[in-house]
Amino acid sequence: MDKTEELKKAAAVKAVDFLQRGMLVGLGTGSTAEKAVRELAKRIKDGRLSEISCVPSSGRTENLAKALGLDLVELGPRRKIDVTIDGADEVDPDFNLIKGGGGALLREKVLAQNSERNITVADESKLSPRLGSRFPLPVEVLPFALGAERRYLESLGGEATLRLARDGSPFLTDQGNLIVDCSFGEIEYPSSIAEKLSKRAGIVEHGLFIGTASDIIIGCPDGVRHLVATGTS
Ligand code: A5P
Repeated sequence: MDKTEELKKAAAVKAVDFLQRGMLVGLGTGSTAEKAVRELAKRIKDGRLSEISCVPSSGRTENLAKALGLDLVELGPRRKIDVTIDGADEVDPDFNLIKGGGGALLREKVLAQNSERNITVADESKLSPRLGSRFPLPVEVLPFALGAERRYLESLGGEATLRLARDGSPFLTDQGNLIVDCSFGEIEYPSSIAEKLSKRAGIVEHGLFIGTASDIIIGCPDGVRHLVATGTS
């Protein structure tokens, strides 16, 4: 395992320490979240954790969780998720995130908004002084509205690129929508951009996660750092 993967694993393993018997757990998407899923399955298998049910944030994570024998349930009306563990593409000093590199931002945000605690796991390369400086903002767009929403994103100063799959065809999300990766450069006011994007009918969701992360666990060469947000929603 290369160094970055080791740092991701260290963060993921630390996050699983916060899970307890009987919890409903949200499973994120991406290479770091996957390491947490594997660690969770390992601890259930060896008896350190029990009575855990999980809600996956993507088809990819669902397949992995099923293969590992985890108990999967739907997001029901009576109970919030206790803890969601998920990765991020960028993390700023105010606990704002860019997510969606894996294309699962819509379900990831549903989980984040319905969890008591959201633990973001990442290696130190994801830390960013300002969102947008390292990663374009993924925006999930209704196919019908693609042209119009690209134009809108460009009117906001973004450089909009339709995400393609490996075979060159448009990448489709689990919901059958498209992803437009939008480079804004450094985003000075993430809440302002988020508000504008949320108002557009053709934009299904965007990858700005503002005020949802309660904990950030970062794998660094000198150990794991655990940052706790104050006053998260
Ligand atoms: C998935 O849609 C994303 O939000 C991921 O959480 C993000 O891309 C991080 O992925 P890695 O852990 O693979 O870097």
